Amino acid sequence: MTTINKKIAALRAELEDHNYRYYVLDAPTIPDPEYDRLFRQLQELEQQHPELVTPASPTQRIGARPATGFKQIRHEVPMLSLANAFADEELIAFDKRVHDRLHSGAQVEYACEPKLDGLAVTLLYEQGKFVRAATRGDGTTGEDISANIRTINSVPLQLRGKDFPALLEVRGEVFMPKAGFAELNAYARKHQEKEFANPRNAAAGSLRQLDPKITASRPLEIFFYAVGKVADGDIPTTHYQLLQKFRQWGLRTCPHIQLAKGVDACLQFYHHIAEQRAELPYEIDGVVYKVNDFNLQHKLGFVSRAPRWAIAHKFPAQEEISKVDAIEFQVGRTGALTPVARLEPVFVGGVTVSNATLHNMDEIERKDVRVGDTVIVRRAGDVIPEVVSVVLAKRPKHTRKVKMPSKCPVCDSDVIKPEGEAVARCSGGLYCMAQRKESIKHFAARKAMDVDGLGDKLVEQLVDLELLHNVSDIYALTHEQIANLERMGAKSAANLLTAIDSSKSTSLARFIFALGIREVGEATANNLAEHYGNLDKLMQADEGSLQQVGDVGPVVAANVVAFFQQAHNQEVMAALIKHGVHWPDVTPQPKAALPLQGQSFVLTGTLETLTRDQAKAQLQALGAKVSSSVSAKTSYVIAGADPGSKYQKAEKLNVPIKDEAWLLALLKQH
Ligand code: IVH
Repeated sequence: MTTINKKIAALRAELEDHNYRYYVLDAPTIPDPEYDRLFRQLQELEQQHPELVTPASPTQRIGARPATGFKQIRHEVPMLSLANAFADEELIAFDKRVHDRLHSGAQVEYACEPKLDGLAVTLLYEQGKFVRAATRGDGTTGEDISANIRTINSVPLQLRGKDFPALLEVRGEVFMPKAGFAELNAYARKHQEKEFANPRNAAAGSLRQLDPKITASRPLEIFFYAVGKVADGDIPTTHYQLLQKFRQWGLRTCPHIQLAKGVDACLQFYHHIAEQRAELPYEIDGVVYKVNDFNLQHKLGFVSRAPRWAIAHKFPAQEEISKVDAIEFQVGRTGALTPVARLEPVFVGGVTVSNATLHNMDEIERKDVRVGDTVIVRRAGDVIPEVVSVVLAKRPKHTRKVKMPSKCPVCDSDVIKPEGEAVARCSGGLYCMAQRKESIKHFAARKAMDVDGLGDKLVEQLVDLELLHNVSDIYALTHEQIANLERMGAKSAANLLTAIDSSKSTSLARFIFALGIREVGEATANNLAEHYGNLDKLMQADEGSLQQVGDVGPVVAANVVAFFQQAHNQEVMAALIKHGVHWPDVTPQPKAALPLQGQSFVLTGTLETLTRDQAKAQLQALGAKVSSSVSAKTSYVIAGADPGSKYQKAEKLNVPIKDEAWLLALLKQH
């Protein structure tokens, strides 16, 4: 065999294997982008050597072979896939092709929709009655999953109204909302069962259960977005209108669908949805643009695997594959040892990642991550990159399990892991350079003492040079010491000294936060300052008194008492005050009543102009309580598009239900 032949055969075998793992076992071992890359590699080789293309090549079929165990159903109208665009230019090129084919100069109208990360299904309704449902399978033949689809509560067994075609095949995406997925995996973890890698696999695994009782126990939902075969009746002439009709017939659609004229408006939609992505209750991996007019869709037609009238604009992959070069332990401000995987750099979630957190030893143990392993790395939104799982098939020989070091890697003090806690800590306290550095960085941070210009790198230099041992040393730094540092000079030294000096004038809340007491964040520090009014009173408070303060439970109370009892901490505070750090005492004041004090709100469904977090924050700022479940005490339920079960509960309990416009008016009024 020639080298090219061999390469093609190897790629085909590898792709087939991944297809099998994905579709049949529901247990993929590589992330989608890696699969796409292999697929494209094969496509390119086949394009260069068309004589080597065989009908059995994975490029020659739409999906993978259906699993056995279900009756097979042939799709009269094939279930196609979508071409992908990653860069804006690819979308612009798509729009141009549409124009060229239609010989049209005018802007084309597109329906823009989130690309749901679930699995495609098709449902047949006859005379409005649900008859059967099938998976996409290989695009021509799927599996009969009627019994399972019936268990999804939001699937109507009888369409509403009268104007539906006598034979109507509707298509959509079954998915598992993020919250349900988290619960399912938490349950699996507790019972030592296998967890699902992501909500899509969980949805697929749940749908392809031979026992529909299992499906029924899983939190699945569906959004409809297309029709298949239609006979004896009419449907509207545009996609957007069709979706409105779907709603009237009782078929759920995604609430975030919008019309856009021209490619710029499409891009705007893309960015808008990308911003909302983290807050959506379900996973999406991009957006889909569809030429809105069915007539134009018809004119454009199809190419082998996909329609010419639609394209998926994908977000940068959030999961990628990389290799673990080393596993190291980072020591944090409170001495906590966090295992970190040093990775071969990989582009994921829009940035290059070379470190990923492994959280703690329990996590390493559970995922069994070892040096040399090939791993799936995930970076979603602004969350710290993490190792999701190991590709066991690629584990080299002679790897060893990672052990928690018994000595701190920075200061060699003993590492202590209290029984029942997940976190192990270095016992070195401020003797440990790492803890020293972190505590000084925290002290100087903007939300703490706000020492402008005293950034992380500078703190590290100063600690390494033994110029800073604890936070009070900041106020003893001299012009000469600073000016002699790397990348500093007389001017920046003078600036830093001015900033250090002006940080002396602070507030009690900032000072308490800056001390870095374990688990005392900004909000708790504020509450403590308000409650005690001055430092002496706080230092004398016992655990019982501390627990009277909002936000403070037994753990935080114990941490506060322990902190102030330590002679070393008392000395540092005295030194800070001696250096001139000062603040006005706080006179605890009865709070002016806020306009929505005493009222409680519950939000459900998707709001159009505000995210849920924004609405929550604005309501809370006016004194309202925002709660996640409806009770008889709830003052109002605010319902957006596609409200959940809270809506019915509110109706049952006679709680007033208001819409977004009402909420906006209320917020504006105050
Ligand atoms: S339309 C002929 N709309 O993406 C076009 N598909 O890559 C049919 N998907 O198999 C699909 N969200 O599973 C369409 N809003 C959406 C979608 C969507 C997710 C999935 C679907 C399809 C795959 C194609």
